[in-house]
Amino acid sequence: MSMSPALTDLVWPRRTERLVLRPPVLDDMRAVHAYRSDPETARWLTTLETDLEQMASRLLDGARTLVVERDGEIVGDLMLAVKDAWSQREVADEARGTMAELGWVIAPAHRGRGYAVEAVRELVTAAFELGVRRVEAGCFAENAGSRRVMEKVGLRQEGYYVRESLHRDGTWRDGMSFGLLADEWDLEARRPRG
Ligand SMILES: CC(C)(COP(=O)(O)OP(=O)(O)OC[C@H]1O[C@@H](n2cnc3c(N)ncnc32)[C@H](O)[C@@H]1OP(=O)(O)O)[C@@H](O)C(=O)NCCC(=O)NCCS
Repeated sequence: MSMSPALTDLVWPRRTERLVLRPPVLDDMRAVHAYRSDPETARWLTTLETDLEQMASRLLDGARTLVVERDGEIVGDLMLAVKDAWSQREVADEARGTMAELGWVIAPAHRGRGYAVEAVRELVTAAFELGVRRVEAGCFAENAGSRRVMEKVGLRQEGYYVRESLHRDGTWRDGMSFGLLADEWDLEARRPRG
């Protein structure tokens, strides 16, 4: 059976022009909880955090979270979750661990400065350096900020789903999916080729 790549296979921290990306430690959790427990920030996120310890065990245990720092201060966090691609049964082993699902949050106080785009360019690059062949990310269609981040990074819109996602307010909302393949990404320039 083939081994899936993991975030721990890369060298951390990774630096961009203004930001540092690294796996989180327990000490980071208070800062992360402060913005993730804000209902406005969590409006389109899977989880509206309440309990700090529950959040910490989820974010620290999975080896799929990174924190984003600017000048030593936490400004947001990222997800890079390695997954199996869909495949037919006979070739399932070859599809294992070939894909990464990506996610991002920037704290309200630090938005509007291009941090999300800068961090996600590095996140995509890290995923392809890990060796996955495809990255993907999803959002509620109404999440204009997240859609713009994906467009600016150069991910391709691949799906639009009508009222397929249930929001915590009880309403079914439209969803979107974006993706890109490793051979479409320039690792040096940190953008799509061509
Ligand atoms: C979406 C989010 C990560 C953007 O963070 P950010 O650091 O402010 O983003 P950037 O500064 O890199 O901006 C990227 C682009 O998106 C645009 N943008 C950001 N927020 C926007 C919004 N609410 N509506 C429309 N456009 C928005 C910016 O104007 C910029 O585009 P431009 O250069 O053409 O002007 C941030 O708002 C956030 O954390 N939201 C809550 C969590 C969330 O929804 N995460 C994604 C779940 S799928």
